[in-house]
Amino acid sequence: MEKTKVGIIGCGNISDRYMTWCPKFDILEVAACTDILMERAQEKAAQYGVLAMTLEDMLANPEIKIVINLTVPAVHASVSLTAIAAGKSVYSEKPLALTREDGQKILQAAKEKGVLVGCAPDTFLGGGLQTCRKLIDDGWIGAPVAATAFMLGHGPEAWHPNPDFFYKVGGGPVFDMGPYYLTALVHLLGPVQRITGSARISFPQRFATSEKLPPELRGHAIDVEIPTHVAGVLDFTSGPIATLITSFDVWSHNLPRIEIYGTGGSLSVPDPNTFRGPVKIRRAGAEDWSEIPLSHSSDVERGIGVADMAYALRSGRPHRASGSLAYHVLDLMHSIHDASASGQHVMVSSTVERPAPLPIGLPKGQLDQ
Ligand SMILES: NC(=O)c1ccc[n+]([C@@H]2O[C@H](COP(=O)([O-])OP(=O)(O)OC[C@H]3O[C@@H](n4cnc5c(N)ncnc54)[C@H](O)[C@@H]3O)[C@@H](O)[C@H]2O)c1
Repeated sequence: MEKTKVGIIGCGNISDRYMTWCPKFDILEVAACTDILMERAQEKAAQYGVLAMTLEDMLANPEIKIVINLTVPAVHASVSLTAIAAGKSVYSEKPLALTREDGQKILQAAKEKGVLVGCAPDTFLGGGLQTCRKLIDDGWIGAPVAATAFMLGHGPEAWHPNPDFFYKVGGGPVFDMGPYYLTALVHLLGPVQRITGSARISFPQRFATSEKLPPELRGHAIDVEIPTHVAGVLDFTSGPIATLITSFDVWSHNLPRIEIYGTGGSLSVPDPNTFRGPVKIRRAGAEDWSEIPLSHSSDVERGIGVADMAYALRSGRPHRASGSLAYHVLDLMHSIHDASASGQHVMVSSTVERPAPLPIGLPKGQLDQ
């Protein structure tokens, strides 16, 4: 199969996953990488056998059709806009942008240039969440009535080598982890039309204790600029009501990740930050939960959304982890915070169609044409 060449911008923590997994899709070839710190790009380039080049050279290279933006959230929009202006399709790590305005600018610029915008997360293309989608669509829990989604922990500063951005504008549990939960919910239940929420900062300072930090930076204080405990209620256009809690303020809990409750039973959805199961169902009248074998492969990783976009670029079909899905999720994340700040429900102005489910039985390393 003819390869679509991609270039990676940002060679930090998450870049290894893309470097490792993109080439497992027949349609993708990682041709080059770059970073604002060129030595990082050179290190990754040597490790994975790709070329290290400057951003300018990458954007000027006509063979590279897609750039994958793995920079920190604060520069996602400017990097994506620069790549689009150079005529590249862009697949960005989440979030699409920090503000709704920048998110719209990205979608508009791509439309004008005739290029595609994709955005993480693509975990909903894994076997776990695709199986959940099939069970719902096939009516196994009846009509969805409600959902719960919980992402609670104590933040990443104990393990992440560069944790400051998690506590600045564009970080926080909603912007960092919310995309996984909200994208999974929109993929399963469709768009959200109304939201309310409450948010607080419980610890005004955090301390970066990761052993991966150089000794002089270990233990440094991070001033917290964004809410770190956020509870929201989401009314889906199709009717269900979801309760979402995301938190960096909780040491331990016994809550599930995501559950969907229908008129005919309940569905236990796996961790939306993975591509795996387990998927469990308990239909009305059943004595216990049953684990359901996955209908789709879970032997995939970050990169499947890029591969899906490469097929879309070639055939003109829609891609699934799309910019418009990511924009709706961005709008939802802001709307939860806006609701808390204003003390009122927020009517959500954006909407999106559910991405098409993946077909069953795709050969390994391939997606639908
Ligand atoms: N770390 C994870 O486990 C993880 C998981 C999923 C998604 N993500 C997302 O991936 C993105 C990157 O996260 P990370 O953990 O790899 O961060 P990181 O800080 O480890 O890496 C970011 C890299 O981008 C580079 N960079 C910053 N600005 C740049 C610019 N203008 N041009 C070129 N390079 C630039 C930095 O030098 C750095 O090497 C974030 O959006 C994050 O939300 C991270």
